[in-house]
Amino acid sequence: MSDRAAVRAEWSDGDYPSVGERLLPAAEALLERLGPLDGADLLDVATGTGNVALAAARAGARVVGVDLTTELLEVARQRARSEGLAVDFLEGDAEALEFEEDRFDVVVSTFGAIFAPRPAVAAGELARVLTPGGRLGLTTWPSDGLVAAMGAAIARHVPDAGEPRATPPPWSSEAGLRELFEPRGVALEVERRTDLVWRFADAAQALVFVEEKLAGFRSARAAIDAAGRMPALREDLRAQFSEWDAGGGDGLLLPYDYLLVTGTKTG
Ligand SMILES: C[S@@+](CC[C@H](N)C(=O)[O-])C[C@H]1O[C@@H](n2cnc3c(N)ncnc32)[C@H](O)[C@@H]1O
Repeated sequence: MSDRAAVRAEWSDGDYPSVGERLLPAAEALLERLGPLDGADLLDVATGTGNVALAAARAGARVVGVDLTTELLEVARQRARSEGLAVDFLEGDAEALEFEEDRFDVVVSTFGAIFAPRPAVAAGELARVLTPGGRLGLTTWPSDGLVAAMGAAIARHVPDAGEPRATPPPWSSEAGLRELFEPRGVALEVERRTDLVWRFADAAQALVFVEEKLAGFRSARAAIDAAGRMPALREDLRAQFSEWDAGGGDGLLLPYDYLLVTGTKTG
């Protein structure tokens, strides 16, 4: 089981709702790839503020969204109410889904189940609740993308941080994803996508985004400050922004690639 209090502390820190808004294109791309959803029973694991759950409900699916962060579930419920959408948003752990086997036609998780501490357990749960012939849809951060690079930079400056949390290895490569899901009867297709970008006026504005908005950063900040590492971290992040900048001198344009993963449960 995940450490519920730690998950909530991490994801209610910063300003995840505004960060999540920028991930909407990935949710839309995933649903487009999954095909028709009208009348389907769909589970969104680690739904956060409900990006993909709400988009699926608009497309006619009967949707359940689960997450461990109460504050984000409340935002998701509010969004559903304001659109008149009927979505069940429930507290639940990606590692211990409280649904019977084969319950859902479609199971999705956008940048969500990847944060469960035991990847094989979470993958097993996603596959277990998916009906044979059902569709799986995931998005995740590749090990050689900007999000992983930023996670690694932050981890380098947090004393005793251990492995960076941005994307645990099995979720961050096509080979790792296949190892997770194919033994569980889910055949996958994996595509690298480049349609998510952060736009900032300059590196200073990008640093404010990292320091004030990213979930978990403010709690890491205490340890970084205590070790006197904040200037070095800023320097590292600025170097990464320059490396990834695709703006050609017109502001800062940072593409943060992701993997779009779809699959079908055969067994
Ligand atoms: C990057 S957010 C993604 C949210 C949403 N899927 C989206 O695309 O905007 C990660 C989410 O995973 C949730 N989470 C982390 N560990 C979890 C776990 N073990 N079980 C359920 N949710 C978890 C967090 O609470 C957070 O809402």
